[in-house]
Amino acid sequence: MEVVIVPDARTGGELIAAAIGRLLSHKPDALLGVATGSSPLPIYEALTAKVRAGEADPSRARICQLDEYVGLPPGHPESYRSVVLREVVEPLGLTESSFMGPDGSAEDIEGACAAYDRALGEAGGVDLQLLGIGTDGHIGFNEPCSSLASRTRIKTLTEQTRVDNARFFDNDIDQVPHHVITQGIGTILEARHLVLLATGEGKAEAVAQTVEGPVAALVPASALQLHPHATVVVDEAAASKLKLADYFRATYAAKPAWQGL
Ligand code: F6R
Repeated sequence: MEVVIVPDARTGGELIAAAIGRLLSHKPDALLGVATGSSPLPIYEALTAKVRAGEADPSRARICQLDEYVGLPPGHPESYRSVVLREVVEPLGLTESSFMGPDGSAEDIEGACAAYDRALGEAGGVDLQLLGIGTDGHIGFNEPCSSLASRTRIKTLTEQTRVDNARFFDNDIDQVPHHVITQGIGTILEARHLVLLATGEGKAEAVAQTVEGPVAALVPASALQLHPHATVVVDEAAASKLKLADYFRATYAAKPAWQGL
């Protein structure tokens, strides 16, 4: 696992946007897996700035979603489909036709999960999957004790995650859905490159367990240790509980982890 410690979220966003720009320059129709929530926003801002400056061309890129709430009415502003369209697809000048995601309002949710998992494979697989991390160590919405081999399926959110996400729903936990569709951990691990961005002290414990703890279903993000190309970008606050922080700094200074992407 590559661990890159950056001074702040903005720098992390720029570093990751640069990697996406390089991916697009050698694979213009790359399938980019996007996450939602607060963490990846600096990436989308930096990528949009690069595109506007003519430094990256996403015109043939394809975008796919990591997870989705179940039961929000279509078009709800906090459905992840709406969020991805607003934060990623539109700013990059793309249209809905370059975008795929699971249908959280389907009558047959199990069928929708299986169809989405299949569609990702048929699209050639995800080239670079962006990830955030929950305070409880989840990736996507694979909550603690998710199977490390899981596929796209319906999951129940923990109380902690619903509390964390209430800020997107007028700080009213009752509005936060209980259920979600999420790519499984096995599905996520099939992406060619995993890039997790975590910022702030609230993520420090989850980051330390992900990077330095054992691979355990209790900390779903620790499954990144099983991936041959996983990069974890953290700001100083999120890195504050890493025992090997100095080693990671020295390693990155000696040979930038992003080289050769
Ligand atoms: C959302 C997702 C989640 C979030 C995580 C952190 O698509 O995949 O795993 O990344 O809940 O959320 P923030 O970034 O808002 O702290």
